[in-house]
Order: sequence, then structure tokens, then C-alpha cells
Amino acid sequence: SDTPRLALPIVLVGPMGAGKSRVGQRLAASVGAPFVDTDLRIAERYGPIEEIFDREGEEYFRIVEREVVDEALREEAVISLGGGAVLHDDTRDDLAGLPVVWLQVSASAVAPRLAGGTRPLLADGGIERWSAILEARRPLYESVADFSIDTSRRSVARIVDDITGHF
Ligand code: S3P
Repeated sequence: SDTPRLALPIVLVGPMGAGKSRVGQRLAASVGAPFVDTDLRIAERYGPIEEIFDREGEEYFRIVEREVVDEALREEAVISLGGGAVLHDDTRDDLAGLPVVWLQVSASAVAPRLAGGTRPLLADGGIERWSAILEARRPLYESVADFSIDTSRRSVARIVDDITGHF
């Protein structure tokens, strides 16, 4: 085919609700690559993420997350990282050599996406907590990303086109 072959892995980062899983799935299908969602892989191996946070705490979750991310980044796949994966120094080092897309989203667009959700970090705080977490992590996303896309008012198809057009 005349579709250019993208270098893999391609990695999606960004805050909770930015669309990393939805976009990653469609991007993977569109370039014919496997899709890896690190949160799903963690849940398959260790059980639901809320339960990990409840029983073992965030610190333990980050250790498990790093293990799964380290493994995933060696695969020729489209990879969606959990929103906090960039907190780990080794993960940021690994991302330095890879194509990384930062999916951005406004607070008003993300609020309905997160409503009624099960994310432990938003259990008591909602959208204000989400915004505070984003501000704390913004420099980390900025430091690892090759480019960013605002997903607030774009269709998934359009976002996928923007990503494939960029690389
Ligand atoms: C987290 C984001 C979640 C999940 C966990 C912690 C975070 O992933 O890894 O709840 O610290 O931002 P999503 O970004 O896929 O929601």
C-alpha cells in the first residue's frame, strides 16, 4: 500500500479523559498495529485499578505501572499510557527517543467524559482536582511530547489523521 509505515511504538500521553484509549485504538487500527493500553494491562495482571489504589496505595500502583510501561514501550504497537505514567523518571527517559503525542483537553470538555467514573484520583475532587493534577504534570507532558493535539472539539477520526500526518 502507499500508506507510509509509521515508526513504532507511537505513544499517547495526557491527562485522564483526554481520549488516549479511544484515540489509541483507532490509530492502531488505522496503521495496522497492535494497541496496548497500559491501564488495561495492569488491570489484567493485578486486578481493577481502583482496588490497587484502595488496597496498596498509589505508590505501589506506580511501581507496577512502571513495570508494565517498561515492557510495553519495547513493543511495536500504539501505546496509551495512564495519565500519571510520566511521573516516573525512567519512563520520561524512555520516551525521549520515541514519537510521543500529548492529547490535550479542556476542563469543560473533559468533565462529562469523567462523570460517574471510577478513577481513584478523582474520587473526592472532581474537575477541580483534575485541573490541579494537570497543572502539576503539564511540564512533564511538555518535556516528553513531540507535539500536542487538543481533542476537545475534534472527532477521533480527525485526531488520528493529525497524528498520522505528523509522523
Ligand atoms: C491516573 C490515570 C489513570 C490510571 C490511574 C491513575 C493518573 O489512567 O492510570 O487511575 O495518575 O492520572 P487514565 O489516564 O487512562 O485515566
